[in-house]
Amino acid sequence: MDSIKKVQAWEIIDSRGNPTIAVGVELASGAYGEAAVPSGASTGKHEAVELRDGDQSRYNGLGVLKAVDNVNKILAPSLIDADPTEQLKLDNTMLAMDGTENKAKLGANAILGVSLAIAHAAANSSKKPLYQYLGQRESYLLPVPLLNILNGGKHASDSTDFQEFMIAPAGASSFAHALRMSTEIYQALKKIIKGQNFSTNVGDEGGFAPSLPSNQAALELIISAMEKAGYKPGVDCFIALDPASSEFYEDGTYVLAREGKRLNREQMVDYYVKRTEEYPIISIEDGMAEDDWEGWKLLCDAIGDRVQLVGDDLYVTNIKRLSQGIAQKSSNSILIKLNQIGTLSETLAAIEMARSAGWTAVVSHRSGETEDVTIADLCVGISTGQIKTGAPCRAERTAKYNRLLRIESELGKQAQYAGLASFNNLKK
Ligand code: PGA
Ligand code: ZN
Repeated sequence: MDSIKKVQAWEIIDSRGNPTIAVGVELASGAYGEAAVPSGASTGKHEAVELRDGDQSRYNGLGVLKAVDNVNKILAPSLIDADPTEQLKLDNTMLAMDGTENKAKLGANAILGVSLAIAHAAANSSKKPLYQYLGQRESYLLPVPLLNILNGGKHASDSTDFQEFMIAPAGASSFAHALRMSTEIYQALKKIIKGQNFSTNVGDEGGFAPSLPSNQAALELIISAMEKAGYKPGVDCFIALDPASSEFYEDGTYVLAREGKRLNREQMVDYYVKRTEEYPIISIEDGMAEDDWEGWKLLCDAIGDRVQLVGDDLYVTNIKRLSQGIAQKSSNSILIKLNQIGTLSETLAAIEMARSAGWTAVVSHRSGETEDVTIADLCVGISTGQIKTGAPCRAERTAKYNRLLRIESELGKQAQYAGLASFNNLKK
């Protein structure tokens, strides 16, 4: 049995130039694991607490030195000599030390950094890549990537009301094929946007962020890009949306400012129904706001048999909120973000709960990312079937896709592309 010899955290910067935390775990054998924690912008209000210093004299108050200290001075001493393969036990130890419902005392960022670094160290100690350490299987499922090629909402300025317009190359024959298809569509989109004299600058997740008049204009551009690149919309490649609607929900009204629309929940549902009839939309995340449970139910009753409805801010990777959604049939899928909940064990429990209900689980990055690629291994290791990690642009996004390319290549015949079958929550 190997044991934890040293746990150390330090402050780094993320892809938006804000501080975040990195943690290294060293074992007695010399094996080492490291992880860095991402950070959101359109953060759900029920997420676990991301501890920030609030000291305005450094990083505009966004420093994470308290979280770093909590790792080095509080968590580390309690983990020394522990068996790194006992992930659940160690995660529970950290939860108990924090003692709060939302990890407000030590910080979900501090706890997650340690939790993931322990898993990496244990995998290295067992001489397995992380995905194999997380799930030893005969064959592995490579996820369908959901690539956010057009950014709006909080991830761009002066762009669409909806936050994310993604493409889902579910008709590809392998992950490498899916990524090639997506990248060709991304490049075609750039040419089209340029041709229409819009800016080709990119948003936080690497997607273009043109100043379009409506969400429909964005959908039209994406369909044109698929066709220009030589792919069939609705066969080779589908559209996935993340409106992130909590961001434009004001006092019970969904406000689409760019289109000059103010919609109640019934009208918002109707808006989605129409769009899904006009375009090959296979997935909608956060179509309704984080506490509009009634709206979610309406949407799921309307299109839940044919469109994947993913709860992000609604569930915040938390099994308490997820079990409510399952009981009420609020959606048919959950978005999985490790830092919304703060430990690997709780994340795995959320995925497991979703699966047992016949739902899908889409593993996701955050808009503020690092070069950490843990989510790529997580998807493959437990065969989630779908990943969302931005456009095929900007190294913090491509790092995850490139990790998946490497895994697919190293697995050879043991790798299977999840494809359309990964939408097992849909009837047709
Ligand atoms: P965030 O956005 O990382 O800024 O919260 C991602 C999402 O809403 O899915
Ligand atoms: Zn989202």
